[in-house]
Amino acid sequence: MSSRLAALSIATAAVLTLSLAGCSAPLSEKWVRYSFAPGPEESGEATATPPSEDQGAKPAAERTPPNCSKVKCVALTFDDGPGSYTTELLSLLDQYDAKATFFLIGGNVKKHPQIVRDEVAKGHEIGNHTWAHKDLTKMSVAAAKRDLQKTDDAVKQAAGVEPTLVRPPFGSLPRSLKKNLAVPIALWDVDTLDWKTRNTKSTIKAAEKIVPGSIVLMHDIHKSTVDAMPTILKDLDAKGYHFVTVTELIGHPKPGIGYGSGQHPGSKD
Ligand code: NI
Repeated sequence: MSSRLAALSIATAAVLTLSLAGCSAPLSEKWVRYSFAPGPEESGEATATPPSEDQGAKPAAERTPPNCSKVKCVALTFDDGPGSYTTELLSLLDQYDAKATFFLIGGNVKKHPQIVRDEVAKGHEIGNHTWAHKDLTKMSVAAAKRDLQKTDDAVKQAAGVEPTLVRPPFGSLPRSLKKNLAVPIALWDVDTLDWKTRNTKSTIKAAEKIVPGSIVLMHDIHKSTVDAMPTILKDLDAKGYHFVTVTELIGHPKPGIGYGSGQHPGSKD
């Protein structure tokens, strides 16, 4: 594992509030499957309804991702959506055959199920960012579990897939949940602070901090961020970057581990 493959323990993540922007990650069905015998708490949860045939997202075309230990890769991540500007963002990403990772809010999934299907169909990765962006450390473990499961269920109902990652809001996850996580935790090493500045030029400037292996935190619910993407994508493409998902960037992320960055040229698998 390379030095830049920063694997933070979830315990560490629990005590770090990495950003006020807060992105969060929820757990999925895997949580229940892997870690808990479903009890009264879980049994009360809504069950996922498989999408109907005409609603289900088609699997993304199989593709061979670049070897990020050989070429420059970056994982662009977008939190808190889907939202009004996400569809425009998807078109921009398509222009560079760029794959990104979307950490979705369950309530927004309910509002925009078609956008979630579009994200999946285009080969982007989906992560859980909780139902309503509440701090998971400020609720009971049982409530946090319900929140994450509810969000996973919404994603599955909308697009037929389960989130493969979690990103807790504010990067804050209760230590007591660590052993229950059945998916990796995606953190970041480049925070564009786009949620704070709401300024396209500032977001572009912040993206200059990207290095090979970076996981970049942005928010597709802000127009200023989507407006920054043509320049950010063009600049990174000119530098030879490949735009990959978080899982592709890391390689084989492990459940319950927090990752702030991934592979880069010269890193070992
Ligand atoms: Ni967030």
